Amino acid sequence: MHIDKSYQEIFVANKKWVERKNNENPDFFSHLATEQNPDYLYIGCSDSRVHANEIMGLEPGQVFVHRNIANMVVNTDLNALSVINYGVEYLSVKYIIVCGHYNCGGIKAAMQPRDMGILNPWLRNVRDVYRLHEKELDAIEDPSDRYNRLVEINVYEQCLNVIKTAEVQKSYLEKGYPRVAGWVYDLNEGVLIDLKIDFEKELNRIRKIYDLTKGK
Ligand code: CO
Repeated sequence: MHIDKSYQEIFVANKKWVERKNNENPDFFSHLATEQNPDYLYIGCSDSRVHANEIMGLEPGQVFVHRNIANMVVNTDLNALSVINYGVEYLSVKYIIVCGHYNCGGIKAAMQPRDMGILNPWLRNVRDVYRLHEKELDAIEDPSDRYNRLVEINVYEQCLNVIKTAEVQKSYLEKGYPRVAGWVYDLNEGVLIDLKIDFEKELNRIRKIYDLTKGK
């Protein structure tokens, strides 16, 4: 079977990769094994076509990664919140990036009103983003433009969700990092687009209601 062959090829490819890395730098693995010191926490979509290190041109050890369907930061998701906590408090990352992408299946599914079974509660979070920005989105006539815009707006809302966390607010006020950035990856061109979210402005706005820097 074709899949069995390609499964075995993974281990062959891995051996070649180890050889190549050792040839380039004999200390590569021993250095990486001792510690990680990434400046970036990347929160992206699980989509197989969007690979954090590759699109950012970064090597192992340079980016801490969390991925899920539609790059969501959900308040009750212990997985994402643990990654953010560890990234901020133990790795002292300088940037937290939420990266969405055009042609995102998760966003597309959320735009279709139908029962998706176990995916319903997850997609609800994207549908809530749609409802928050319903006026702007419904004014866009072309369905693919509306879909692309929801990808961008969703990134923006997930950045706000990152800013709503106590560790991000406290760390930024005490140390000046991390900053939060929103990106979209354009699959058609391979290009990363910075949505240029004004972090300071959004932080101040969020703190009016969600200030978690006091107490405890
Ligand atoms: Co996606």
